[in-house]
Amino acid sequence: MIVNYIFSDKVSSLKASAIREILKFTSDPDVISFAAGNPAPEAFPTDKIAEISADLLKNDPILALQYSVTEGYSPLRDELKKLMSEKKCFNSDIDDLIITSGAQQANELSCKVLLNEGDTMICEAPSFIGSLNAFRSYNVNLVGVELENDGINLEKLEEVLKSDKKVKILYLIPNFQNPTGLTMSWEKRKAVYELAKKYDFIILEDNPYGDLRFDGEEIPSIKSLDTEGRVIYSGTFSKILSPGFRTGYVSAPKEIIQKIVVCKQVSDVHSNIWAQVVCHRFITQVDMKKHFDFLRSVYKRKCGLMISKIEECFSDKISFTRPQGGLFIWCTLPENSDMQAFCKKAVSEYKIAVVPGNAFNISENDVTTSFRLNFSTPTDEQLVQGTEILGKLTKEMFK
Ligand SMILES: Cc1ncc(COP(=O)(O)O)c(C=O)c1O
Repeated sequence: MIVNYIFSDKVSSLKASAIREILKFTSDPDVISFAAGNPAPEAFPTDKIAEISADLLKNDPILALQYSVTEGYSPLRDELKKLMSEKKCFNSDIDDLIITSGAQQANELSCKVLLNEGDTMICEAPSFIGSLNAFRSYNVNLVGVELENDGINLEKLEEVLKSDKKVKILYLIPNFQNPTGLTMSWEKRKAVYELAKKYDFIILEDNPYGDLRFDGEEIPSIKSLDTEGRVIYSGTFSKILSPGFRTGYVSAPKEIIQKIVVCKQVSDVHSNIWAQVVCHRFITQVDMKKHFDFLRSVYKRKCGLMISKIEECFSDKISFTRPQGGLFIWCTLPENSDMQAFCKKAVSEYKIAVVPGNAFNISENDVTTSFRLNFSTPTDEQLVQGTEILGKLTKEMFK
């Protein structure tokens, strides 16, 4: 007899992501993929990582291979506390910091320790699918609030806060948001923090792309405004060093970190200690300003290349964002157009993979005519050729 699996209520509503559906096509070597979310391969500091790793395994192998503590490798935690203090993202009077297995785990555990089933969590609409799925797995009531060019719509946010008394967390990606590439203004960051005080909720500030700013002025984090222990800040080495390391961190009020430590212990005991030591040695041995300048130059060039080809080749009926950092451009087809048909045609006939915007919807009923483009993973040649081909399709469908 074949077993009829009855999955838990927590996971039964989770579906394979639309991105994965598109990624199936990307195993075809003829497909140019703008669907990934990977950092630029040429930006990985492979020689230095190889040198640090070889030295570590030769001279300190047990440190890299033995069990370690849940909170994370102390020298790395101390260094991050110092760096985060300089950015006002860590306040030693109220905060502590734990190393996690990427920002993904940071966000998931933050949700786990604070939310009960039925509590409300507000997210920007659209938002990062990985976090949305983590939140969904806790059966929370996810409410999306429209994202504008300078961040979340404050009037609509306050409407939700007035009508829903169970709002516990607001999840935000203020810098070069995934999927839109948009950045929240300083005015809105301050206003959102004031709303958090007024309506008594916690802000989960997810900042994986902050160091990849290649245009415009840096904007302080929401965490830097935090005097009351209302902001959980998550960061990661994924976009500045290597996502394969699975090394991220959370800076948050001590009581919250204590609970995250207990949950992390249950989940994976501790994050990869080998990678943590490499991260620590990298950031203390390398001139990080030079490293960031290099990363920013790579991302700026690739983004600029894709934007210039979009301007040249896309139908003028398509609008698109101009990110000041990060990995993504968000394109929007004319109102009422069939975005899914466009994305399907792009990949199956034109051999260009993009991510349909509905993958990032908060609710299944949301309608979108947008899709996401990634400029960091393709080569320059693929960026040029792929954007030209996609442009032809936009002109064919939206004359
Ligand atoms: C907004 C956002 N948060 C978190 C993550 C997860 O990053 P990590 O590799 O650190 O788990 C990503 C990855 O793409 C992301 O885009």
